[in-house]
Amino acid sequence: MKQKVVLAYSGGLDTSVAVAWLREQFDAEVVTLTVDLGGGSLREGVERRAISAGASRAYVVDAKETFVRDFCWPALQANALYQGVYPLATALARPLIAQLLVEVAQKEGATAVAHGCTGKGNDQVRFDVATHALDPGLEVIAPMRVGMGLSREQSIDYAAARGIELPITKASPYSIDVNMWGRSCETGVLEDPWVAPPADAFAWTVDPGAAPAAVEIVVGFEGGAPVSIDGERLGPVALVERLNALGGAHGVGRVDHVEDRLVGIKSREIYEAPAAAILHAAHRALQGLVLSKDTLRFNRLVAHEIAQLTYDGLWFSALHRDLRGYVASADRTVSGDVRVRLDHGSATANGRRSPLSLYDRNLATYDEGDAFDHASAVGFIEIFGLPLRVEAARHGAVGAHHGAAWTWTLPLLPDLRVAVTDPVATPAAG
Ligand code: ARG
Repeated sequence: MKQKVVLAYSGGLDTSVAVAWLREQFDAEVVTLTVDLGGGSLREGVERRAISAGASRAYVVDAKETFVRDFCWPALQANALYQGVYPLATALARPLIAQLLVEVAQKEGATAVAHGCTGKGNDQVRFDVATHALDPGLEVIAPMRVGMGLSREQSIDYAAARGIELPITKASPYSIDVNMWGRSCETGVLEDPWVAPPADAFAWTVDPGAAPAAVEIVVGFEGGAPVSIDGERLGPVALVERLNALGGAHGVGRVDHVEDRLVGIKSREIYEAPAAAILHAAHRALQGLVLSKDTLRFNRLVAHEIAQLTYDGLWFSALHRDLRGYVASADRTVSGDVRVRLDHGSATANGRRSPLSLYDRNLATYDEGDAFDHASAVGFIEIFGLPLRVEAARHGAVGAHHGAAWTWTLPLLPDLRVAVTDPVATPAAG
């Protein structure tokens, strides 16, 4: 019996060639799987092209809602941004696609899955690791890693010789990956990190300098998940689409990132993620209102950890599952509204309110109604500062610490220009 392979199929040139290549090299029956994750990722006529390339069956799965609800929202609730800036659009999509590959493989009785990733990116790692976490018995074939590497011209000839329908898109100077959480764009002139990204590297956002006058929107959250815009309740997909359009029109969500890939390479990527930029800013602002300072501090560690696990393709790890459980629990009170100002490329929180707010105006106010006990601050500081007083007493002047590479400069006054004004002695009257 022929080996059956399920190929993650975008409908582009490379994966179309891969269908024929897998059949020829492995004498395999090829089933394609195309996952619609929004953002324009679904190419017109993919199933037809898959069949023309020799697939025995072509699956097209609309996973937009699952993607946003079960992948993007948890990353948002965790404030997960790789290296502090990348909202992880591509990285979040991979475990979902891998999961669907495994499910289709099991349904079809296939022994292998395949993907079109090269051997020097993160995505191959994410696909391979996620697939084996879910089904260790499946083989993973990446044609690009095992000899399929054809130039664009060779691929076009290869496809033409086999009657494979080709996408009628003109060759892009970039390598692009898209889903509704963001657009990732790399290679070409972008490979020089000193070169400013040309206008054609962007597709979702206007030049911030050319954006219209600033606007303010209100984003509503329930339990850490966004649920409304300007009071209108929207499902996850509609909400993200709306914010991508709105944010994009104001130049919001551009990120120019020299990032550290899992395989050890520094690479330069241009991201556009208007909805993610707006929602991350809003979510953090609302958390600041409703979570304790200790939870917020711990969340920063978790954010960092989850971003790294997601980037590194460890989505289905026990550590990620457990951290995610913490995040879902910690975020259960993150309900309320945030005003967000979209202003020439920036998305900034301009105000927040919540029925679960921990902000107490009577404690915070400098006006009338102040409920804070000023006198008790003295006792608090006495105890709070105790360790520092003990330390200073033990070591003498802190600056006189011997042998340290760096010490406080004490005293500072002799080195500074000091103006001293004394009262002018007025001559005694009389
Ligand atoms: N560097 C990003 C990541 O690893 C995006 C890669 C997307 N691929 C692309 N051709 N731009 O998550």
